[in-house]
Amino acid sequence: MSSNKPVQIVEVGPRDGLQHERVWVSTETKVAYVNALARSGLRRIEVTSFVHPGAVPQLVDAEKVLARIDRPEGVRFSALVPNMHGFERAQSCNLDEIAVFTGATDSFVRRNINMSIDESIAAFKPVVDAGLAAGIGVRGYVSTVFGCPYDGVVKPQAGIDVALRLFDLGCSEVSIGDTIGVATPGSVRTWLEVAGKQLPLEHLALHFHDTRGTALANVMAAAEVGITVFDASAGGLGGCPFAPGASGNVATDDLVYSLHGTGYETGIHLGKLVAASRIIASELDHLLPGRYFQAERVNAPFE
Ligand code: HMG
Ligand code: MG
Repeated sequence: MSSNKPVQIVEVGPRDGLQHERVWVSTETKVAYVNALARSGLRRIEVTSFVHPGAVPQLVDAEKVLARIDRPEGVRFSALVPNMHGFERAQSCNLDEIAVFTGATDSFVRRNINMSIDESIAAFKPVVDAGLAAGIGVRGYVSTVFGCPYDGVVKPQAGIDVALRLFDLGCSEVSIGDTIGVATPGSVRTWLEVAGKQLPLEHLALHFHDTRGTALANVMAAAEVGITVFDASAGGLGGCPFAPGASGNVATDDLVYSLHGTGYETGIHLGKLVAASRIIASELDHLLPGRYFQAERVNAPFE
């Protein structure tokens, strides 16, 4: 048995990764991509979003993708659901988990989901209740925890307060989002120190975008202080259409490589993960930003 410390990765490539892509990715390719991700050993995959089709046209085929993907045992599939309209669409799609999403700043939340923070919490109440009544997991997201594209620097307490409200609603896990990639290992440690006195750290996930090249270092710093759940996107795709300047999530491939080399275990097979990234790379109009993925193109695999 491995003595390495277990870390759970929530793969958000099919959702966060694709939501900002200009080129239409066919439903067939999305299905093949999700199936390949599941074959790599990932145990949690965020597949899509039940949002307004005008807000995120790339994910307009949410129902079709979920109807066609394989359902290997032990893999949990989830989707973003912002309101009851979204829940009604999602409820026949055999999801294991849904995720509601708000933020630490009203300015961002208003632009993202056309609600204030208070309004979002009120809108989520029936969604969370309905999810729990249906026996599925409910995750909450707090965006702009380390910085907001509209308000600038954000105080730690702002994100903590919203996370507390999501736990109060009944979310079993809250993902803390660095939406525009401004966090550093130092600010992550400081945030966790403050948060640790008020929030159950074992029920937090961290969600880093790599806009300023700090996402991988942020994960490693957070893992050192005991966080065990991280969101990541294969090949480093990602971004939010309502957060100017947001670039990709930390690349799952880079993260797995770094974690495995540092005494953590993820259960993910790197070669199979790269195979999944290749499926999506072939359809996009740019190179995937992930460094491990790029290195794989020129060197023999290092695992
Ligand atoms: P709204 O316009 O306020 O909604 O949008 P509304 O309730 O007033 O309804 C307006 C119309 O939208 C109606 O249709 C509704 O039926 C329809 P009409 O009568 O005009 O024909 N509608 C919907 N249609 C489909 N699915 C729905 C839905 N709800 C209403 N669920 C809304 C509010 C939340 C819907 C909209 O603002 C929206 O869809 N926003 C999505 C934004 C989004 O997906 N952002 C990216 C994800 S968040 C993110 O990336 C951050 C994260 O990664 C963490 C991080 O990095 O920090 C999670
Ligand atoms: Mg994100």
